[in-house]
Amino acid sequence: MCNGGRVPSGVALLTGGAGYIGSHTAVELLCAGWDVVVVDDFSNASPVALERVARIAADHPGAGRLRHHRLDVTDTPALTRVLAEERVDAVVHFAGLKAVGESVEQPLRYYRVNVGGATSLLEAMAATGVRRLVFSSSATVYGEPATVPVDERAPLGPTNPYGRTKLIVEQVMRDVAAADERSRFVALRYFNPVGAHPSGLIGEDPEGVPNNLMPYIMQVAVGRRPRIRVFGDDYPTPDGTGIRDYIHVVDLALGHLAALEALDRLDPFTAVNLGTGQGSSVLEVIDAASRAVGRQLPYEVVGRRPGDVAAIWADPSLAHELLGWKATRTLDEMAADHWRWQSRNPQGYRGAPAG
Ligand code: WQD
Repeated sequence: MCNGGRVPSGVALLTGGAGYIGSHTAVELLCAGWDVVVVDDFSNASPVALERVARIAADHPGAGRLRHHRLDVTDTPALTRVLAEERVDAVVHFAGLKAVGESVEQPLRYYRVNVGGATSLLEAMAATGVRRLVFSSSATVYGEPATVPVDERAPLGPTNPYGRTKLIVEQVMRDVAAADERSRFVALRYFNPVGAHPSGLIGEDPEGVPNNLMPYIMQVAVGRRPRIRVFGDDYPTPDGTGIRDYIHVVDLALGHLAALEALDRLDPFTAVNLGTGQGSSVLEVIDAASRAVGRQLPYEVVGRRPGDVAAIWADPSLAHELLGWKATRTLDEMAADHWRWQSRNPQGYRGAPAG
């Protein structure tokens, strides 16, 4: 079940391609005719995800080939070998750590993996003449926005080590692109990815207690947790709870496909928001999930989470202008697709039958 259907476009290497966004992007690239090579150390992802990706793409005539290599992106010699042997045309860089709270407790680990991994990749690309790169950046580079919606000209002010690693990698990309104007780099600033592929075969499978709202809600829905904790209802928003721009992970994946196909007509470095342009509150997300699950999900209001901003959502017009991309899926579709994945895979990929 694919959304794509374009002309074959070459070999794309996806670092961290067995992860949540990576696996969904692999499906859309394969369906669009790209050959996909995944490199992943599987420290925070399951090989089962790739078997499921292959299953989805197998239904699509004309889908590209999927291969994978187990490796750590900070291993520059190994990465260089794979880029050369697989005759890679473009890279999508997902591999990295992404928990804001954890980054505050373990900053050095975040700088080593997120910044060290990106510089290792850029060195391997330079050594093999691969000059096309799409980078998984984040709206956290904006920090607390002065105004919403946020466009790409907004001040950049990350407020945690995770967001700072994303901004540093963007700066490294800008400098490398300035040194070699044949570079074609795009940083995609994600807002809040949620949902799952409509097949229910792949989805978000966080380790331990989910940091993010939707996976936590769905673990409550499937009985793994007693109730949802709403982190504060005293924000200056209509219902007092935090507002975010939730984007369906399939829309996000299609944004990566659009970026890859637009690269050659862009500047050496471009940063683009990937969001819907709509904000939803915590209570609105709980309501959408309750509709998807078919019952009111239990929640309690607790104290604010340190570091949270009250409200942020995207102005996604540059993505439409430069990439010809727009998100189309609604919050209810996000909740319904997330629930289909979670209800069919109550423990995620752990203990799931292979394939
Ligand atoms: C959303 C809203 C919380 C959990 C983070 C990263 C960002 C990206 C997405 C990687 C907020 C509230 C949450 C819960 C709650 N990750 N909430 N109860 O913090 O906007 O963004 O994840 O790229 O970079 O910063 O997402 O889902 O954690 O929170 O009330 O159990 O839900 O306060 O208002 P966030 P989130």
